[in-house]
Amino acid sequence: MTEQTALCDIGFIGLGVMGKNIALNLADNGYKIAGFDLDHNKVEETLSADAAENTTTEPRIIPCHSFTELLGKLKAPHLIILSIPAGAPVDDVCGKLIDAGIKADDIIVDTGNSLWTDTIEREKRYRGKFNFFTTAVSGGEVGARFGPSLMPSGDPYAWARIEPVWHAIAAKVDPETGRALERTHHTQPLPQGEPCATYIGPAGSGHYVKMVHNGIEYADMQMICEAYHIMRESLSMSPMEIADIFEQWNNGILNSYLMEISSDVLREFDPETKKPLVDVILDKAGQKGTGLWTAVGALQVGAPATTIAQSVFARSLSTLKHARIRAAKLLTGPTIAQVDVQERKDCIEQIHDALYCSKIVAYAQGFQLIKLAAREQNWPIDFGGIAKIWRAGCIIRAAFLQKITDAYNRDSDLGNLLLDEYFAGEIAKYQHNWRHAIAKATLDGIPCGAFSSALAYYDSYRMDTLPANLLQAQRDFFGAHTFERVDKAPGKKYHVTWSADKRQMVEID
Ligand code: 6PG
Repeated sequence: MTEQTALCDIGFIGLGVMGKNIALNLADNGYKIAGFDLDHNKVEETLSADAAENTTTEPRIIPCHSFTELLGKLKAPHLIILSIPAGAPVDDVCGKLIDAGIKADDIIVDTGNSLWTDTIEREKRYRGKFNFFTTAVSGGEVGARFGPSLMPSGDPYAWARIEPVWHAIAAKVDPETGRALERTHHTQPLPQGEPCATYIGPAGSGHYVKMVHNGIEYADMQMICEAYHIMRESLSMSPMEIADIFEQWNNGILNSYLMEISSDVLREFDPETKKPLVDVILDKAGQKGTGLWTAVGALQVGAPATTIAQSVFARSLSTLKHARIRAAKLLTGPTIAQVDVQERKDCIEQIHDALYCSKIVAYAQGFQLIKLAAREQNWPIDFGGIAKIWRAGCIIRAAFLQKITDAYNRDSDLGNLLLDEYFAGEIAKYQHNWRHAIAKATLDGIPCGAFSSALAYYDSYRMDTLPANLLQAQRDFFGAHTFERVDKAPGKKYHVTWSADKRQMVEID
């Protein structure tokens, strides 16, 4: 064996839950890894996991105790993957790798949930010192181990180098059916199919797309929770009964990973109290920040991602537990209307359709947000490509993503998913039930902010006239903010002399 072949292919820094699993996934695909973590216990855990699974005679992961040692164990030019917390730790490690002697043609790939603007800054900051590339990863720990969805962005030179690596470890989709080719155990063969990894664009774009993925994830989760809540409160259904309904739905157009796990969760009992597990979990939702970033990003580019933002607010509202307990004693609501067997059956169908239509809207909002941001940032985004890599591996993976892929295949420049003939037709078919589900929940006093914000978005988007004309008049009244007229050239501004005795409309130059 020559010295060069004995060297490792990839340096891996950060062997926490995600890092360990990505490293093992790389090892399954034949890459020899030099691994480092500040916490040596994590290195040991990774080595034992590898030893338990490795069927070759050679170790697949080589432990390193310093950055200098790591660089020394790698083939040049070096390819180093970071799986460390977003923020300051990324710059800390990059600085230490510079000190350890990393070179201009070496590549560092950040796979954390970094803020996209930080990525743009870093790409500039490290230019000439090394090649800073990023790949946003979705799929949680199982995805990382057996096939995540990967959203790489940055310098095309680095992409050319990392592409075969990401294509090897990414989740795979059957190109004929668009269905995920599952691998859930290391003894199973590596699936062959279309990889869920595609180059997104210049620095920052991959993390932007992942941020929006998470915004959609928030909406998807909140909408499932609203469906559960209406069934639980309005229809007095037990968690087990709702689990059965979710399982049925998972066999149809609502098939998705989040639907599947929600059904699994609702079947679980607390070993201590024997109550349904969901009933002993405190109803305060946490968040790490990516949903908030999406909502802020939407406000910044003027994208009406109302359902995504509402889903972030729903988590915030849930955390006001003490205030809610007090308010529950003071504030009144309606009495829940009893339903007979047929009404209950109809209502379950209406909730299904509300979930489906709201989901279409949440995705429409997410893609519209990416489109507006891409225009502002000058990113040449392939929307069909994004839909394709979300078909498997990621948290929002769903059969439905194939329909989005088809929509962008029909029109790669689609302005809004709702304008696609298939989705327009689907909403036309199911909107009656969508409205009924929201009406029932509202009359019963059960909150369904994500469903209703999605419907309000749909109704606003399809209106050729909105009351923004009155709003513009109000602005002009108190602040002389001017308005345009429907019957005059666009861009021409007018103002009414509201406070003058004799009102006049003046044209503003
Ligand atoms: C994924 C997930 C992952 C993580 C989020 C959720 O795509 O694998 O989105 O990134 O689970 O950080 O975070 P919060 O719900 O805690 O905000």
